[in-house]
Amino acid sequence: MTNLPERDFKNPRAEHGFKGRTCSIAAVGSYVPSKVLTNADLEKMVDTTDDWITSRTGIKARRIAAADEFTSDMATKAAQLALERAQLEASQIDLIIVATITPDMPFPSTACLVQQKLGAYRAAAFDIEAACSGFIFALEIGQQFIMSRTYDTILVIGAEKLSSIINWKDRNTCVLFGDGAGAAILQNRPDSHGLLTACMGSDGNKADLLCLPGGGCRMPPTPDSLAAGNHYLRMDGKETFKNAVNAMCSAATEALRRCEVDITQIKCIIPHQANLRIIDAVSDRLGAKPEQRFINLDRYGNTSAASVAIALDEAVQAGRIQRGDLVLLVVFGAGLTWGAAVIEW
Ligand code: ACO
Repeated sequence: MTNLPERDFKNPRAEHGFKGRTCSIAAVGSYVPSKVLTNADLEKMVDTTDDWITSRTGIKARRIAAADEFTSDMATKAAQLALERAQLEASQIDLIIVATITPDMPFPSTACLVQQKLGAYRAAAFDIEAACSGFIFALEIGQQFIMSRTYDTILVIGAEKLSSIINWKDRNTCVLFGDGAGAAILQNRPDSHGLLTACMGSDGNKADLLCLPGGGCRMPPTPDSLAAGNHYLRMDGKETFKNAVNAMCSAATEALRRCEVDITQIKCIIPHQANLRIIDAVSDRLGAKPEQRFINLDRYGNTSAASVAIALDEAVQAGRIQRGDLVLLVVFGAGLTWGAAVIEW
């Protein structure tokens, strides 16, 4: 089902980057809101049980942002941590890319709001939208700017306040999602190979499987559209599940092929944290061992574009990823969109 392009891809490790230039992740950071919404809490809100949610998804809890805490606030906190760890000032950032489906507002971009909050006055800033795949899409865009020597320091963020687009009366969706943000700083670092490859794919034929129908120019907010619940996320869970497994396997296989890496060489797999059964199916098909995977969906649920960004940060802080290790990120989301990236840490 995937349409990943077959292309002649030179092994960047053999070539030592593109003409000596690499795109490394200098530091990562993440932030999740303090409010915890457990499965027991949800049992009081909709007709569900801890047992159903845990056995069908692996999720036990999720974080929910405060009413006055927005995507740009969470993104800024994650970015500040990454900057501190990279020992960089906000004024050194050349470009800010925020991946999100829950921007503070349709425009200006959340990236511009983050720029203002950080005081990153030199940076250009824009958002991208690839749903749960957004962080890898943003990494790939950032890599192109580093490799082309357009920019030297790029802040890439995945951030979401999904609680703002969830119908809290719909048990099919409200148990799955949470809020949070993760950030990474990309730089050319001659001592590291960094991002070896990132591949992306999309299938707009399946746009209806997972969408938020209202709020755009097709269906502006009106009392009728609000009453019909058109401004909440909608999902065909079963079909999304099947497509997720296929696309994540294809993307991961393609990314590994492009940089001539075998799954056994991967120290840590960071999959999109949507559903433990999806992660199990994908890792089984790839021939990965359970201990290769990093999982935090039990604590945060699906945070869409923030998902792999938060998990990457937590894996690094937990010591699961050390310098020189190979890391595989693999994602899937609305669009449909999917992608994978291999990083030498
Ligand atoms: N509690 C109790 N019962 C529930 C709940 C709930 N929270 N939710 C659904 N059910 C019921 C359904 O109504 C259905 O009942 P019925 O048979 O009487 O109609 C039954 O449970 C089974 O529902 P299924 O849809 O078959 O359950 P499934 O095993 O497919 O799990 C789930 C549903 C968890 C949503 C799964 O399909 C899934 O994870 N899909 C993928 C989601 C995903 O990966 N999203 C990624 C992208 S997200 C993004 O881009 C923003």
